[in-house]
Amino acid sequence: MGAGTKRATVLMTAACLALVLAGIQQTPVAAQSSDQKTEEVFKNIKVLNGQRADMLNPTMTMFEAALGVGCGYCHDNDGNKRELDTKPQKTIARGMIQMVDTINKTTFRGQAKVSCFTCHQGRNIPIGVPNVTNNALPPALGEDFVASLPPPPPVPSNVTPAQVIDKYIASLG
Ligand code: HEC
Ligand code: HEC
Repeated sequence: MGAGTKRATVLMTAACLALVLAGIQQTPVAAQSSDQKTEEVFKNIKVLNGQRADMLNPTMTMFEAALGVGCGYCHDNDGNKRELDTKPQKTIARGMIQMVDTINKTTFRGQAKVSCFTCHQGRNIPIGVPNVTNNALPPALGEDFVASLPPPPPVPSNVTPAQVIDKYIASLG
């Protein structure tokens, strides 16, 4: 795994853990008031009831990153009709939300330790068995997400790799 991939994985995992459905505590990012519940603002909420409405959009973004898909993977092709249940993936996702919620409640004492990303790792269908074949794993769709992240800042050209390593070792103390 390259440094970029690793960093993105850490970022995505952190984002997922921060957003997952139990005990969400985040600063508001969307327009809705934090007092409003998801079911008060949106039309067809069956499992995210009681969650803060302004957390819906970040939760959806987390689903995208965790599965490596776009909104239309679960939602109707008409982007103005997110309330419709026209695709089986949306129904499956509801079941997955409930499963993750239950795992975190029963096994992790209510802490958001397991997220969609724990299993999916950027793939719509998770790899369920360890890779013992030495064959390359099928690519994760979410690698597009990794590629979309800004590159790390460039190393100044007047610094040699050896100097960077010396500095790194020195900073470790
Ligand atoms: C992995 C599947 C999945 C993906 C990907 C996804 N969603 Fe959702 N979305 C859901 C599910 C499931 C619900 C319903 C939750 C419930 O019933 O409590 C939902 C509900 C919504 C709602 C509320 C609609 C209403 O009025 O009832 C909006 C808005 C929404 N999603 C927007 C988005 C956007 C925008 C994206 C892309 C950034 C997105 N979603 C990506 C699964 C998904
Ligand atoms: C414990 C592991 C696990 C977790 C956690 C998990 N999933 Fe899944 N998910 C699976 C497995 C395994 C499949 C494939 C099932 C199959 O092949 O029939 C799957 C399939 C799906 C599918 C259907 C994909 C398709 O097109 O067939 C969706 C949508 C989905 N998951 C959404 C989610 C969402 C959203 C979350 C987080 C709320 C989540 N999953 C968390 C294991 C998990």
